[in-house]
Amino acid sequence: MPPIIHLIETDSTNNYIKNLLVEETIEEGTIVYTNFQTAGKGQRGNSWESEKEKNLSFSIVLYPKRIKANEQFILSQIVSLAIADYIRFRIDNIHIDDITIKWPNDIYWQDKKLCGILIESTLINDKIDVSVIGIGININQTEFRSNAPNPISLKQITGQNYDIQYLIQDIQDYILDYYTRLQQHRAELALQYKNILFRNNGYHLYNDGKANFTARIKDIKPSGILVLETKDGEERCFAFKEVKYILS
Ligand code: BTN
Repeated sequence: MPPIIHLIETDSTNNYIKNLLVEETIEEGTIVYTNFQTAGKGQRGNSWESEKEKNLSFSIVLYPKRIKANEQFILSQIVSLAIADYIRFRIDNIHIDDITIKWPNDIYWQDKKLCGILIESTLINDKIDVSVIGIGININQTEFRSNAPNPISLKQITGQNYDIQYLIQDIQDYILDYYTRLQQHRAELALQYKNILFRNNGYHLYNDGKANFTARIKDIKPSGILVLETKDGEERCFAFKEVKYILS
């Protein structure tokens, strides 16, 4: 298996890998994880809250050179499926159906966020060259101080404490296993992703930046565009950041 590098502290594991890549080549699948990030990065330019030594903060490097720029969403799909599967099947006392993927790649337990993923890729022409995939899973933290709307940790769900070092190897397996399936089984993976989506069924509240509206998830396009359908049959398409889920 590719190496797993443990750092006591770093600014961000994504940044650490990106800086390392400037100086040397890194084996595909290598993971860097840390006990503490001083400047953990979240999506939308937010910071990522993670109490020292409590959670899993790590990044994995992939070279998916055959994936076209406009197909990048497949990486979100496989990584979120790998993490969701891992939690569903390897963590005791969690109900499988409670774990879903909130489009595009958050892992949810019921209506709370358990894990966030930040993918930073560089392109050469129209193909991906390097992807640094950063993953933060809330494990043993029980108080969240930032204004993140709805965080939750494994410990808050199951009442158990987890050994972080022990989890990381299994997670690497899960991610690399999904990664190897990517070339042959894209359609199957896309379907699997749709089936495990948060708010897969029924009508729910969304906000398009101007107003709330009620809709159901109709489809996810291969490009990652979310297709919602309102009750009067109108189809509305959204890229990431263009629509917010209103959580009760
Ligand atoms: C999100 O906002 O949902 C994405 C969070 C991603 C956090 C992880 S923690 C490890 C890696 N390093 C970072 O700086 N961010 C990602």
